[in-house]
Amino acid sequence: MTRIPLIAGNWKMYKTGTQAVAAAKQLADLADGVNGVDIMIAPTALSLPLVAAALGKDSRIRLGAQNIYPGKEGAFTGEVSAEMIKDAGADYVIIGHSERRQFFGETDESVSSKIRAALDAQLIPVMCIGETESQREADKTFFILDKQISDGLKGFDLEELDSLILAYEPVWAIGTGKTAGPDQVKEVHGFLRNLIKEKYAEALAGKIRILYGGSVKPGNIKELMRLEDVDGALVGGASLNPEDFNKIIRF
Ligand code: 13P
Repeated sequence: MTRIPLIAGNWKMYKTGTQAVAAAKQLADLADGVNGVDIMIAPTALSLPLVAAALGKDSRIRLGAQNIYPGKEGAFTGEVSAEMIKDAGADYVIIGHSERRQFFGETDESVSSKIRAALDAQLIPVMCIGETESQREADKTFFILDKQISDGLKGFDLEELDSLILAYEPVWAIGTGKTAGPDQVKEVHGFLRNLIKEKYAEALAGKIRILYGGSVKPGNIKELMRLEDVDGALVGGASLNPEDFNKIIRF
């Protein structure tokens, strides 16, 4: 089973609309002619329609949001729905990023309802999971990942998860310059694929894309992408610079 790799850039709360448009255009020029890889950038929700208009509908660079609210519409001051994100030009949405779990009270239950909302709006969910440093030290990595998957995907049936993408982001490797070593990444990605096989089906396990995230840089992407169960990367800091991100998508 061949899985087309996905290299995704999470721009977090960086770049104004003007800066986002300029960076996206520069990236589109640099990435011209790159084949065999899906490319996604996730600017702030505010910049999405601007970047979508600048890139055009047929761009190789697809767009994602960094979060959605699970409700369809209503009196939820300050929130943005999946349908609004889709309408703004995004195909993907990152759900359950560790920064959202850490700073905004996101739980496996809210992750589950956001995945539901994403699928209802025909957005591709990129579900983030990962252990903290203390959980790893306490030997709880696999327990935590199992729980995040089991609770985050509770109630979904096999067909519904067809488009789901997983992103393994060990919290201790995000923004720290510490990348999980090849053996650690290999072990966890293999564990996750096997978990999907046991909980759902071999066919889904064979096709689901599992991205790695956490201090991915031009200098370490090759080594990561060589690992059997790594189907791409979710890149933070290094995705903000179009030249660096271009090097990463050309792994
Ligand atoms: P860094 O690449 O900056 O470590 O961030 C990873 C991340 O959080 C992507 O979602």
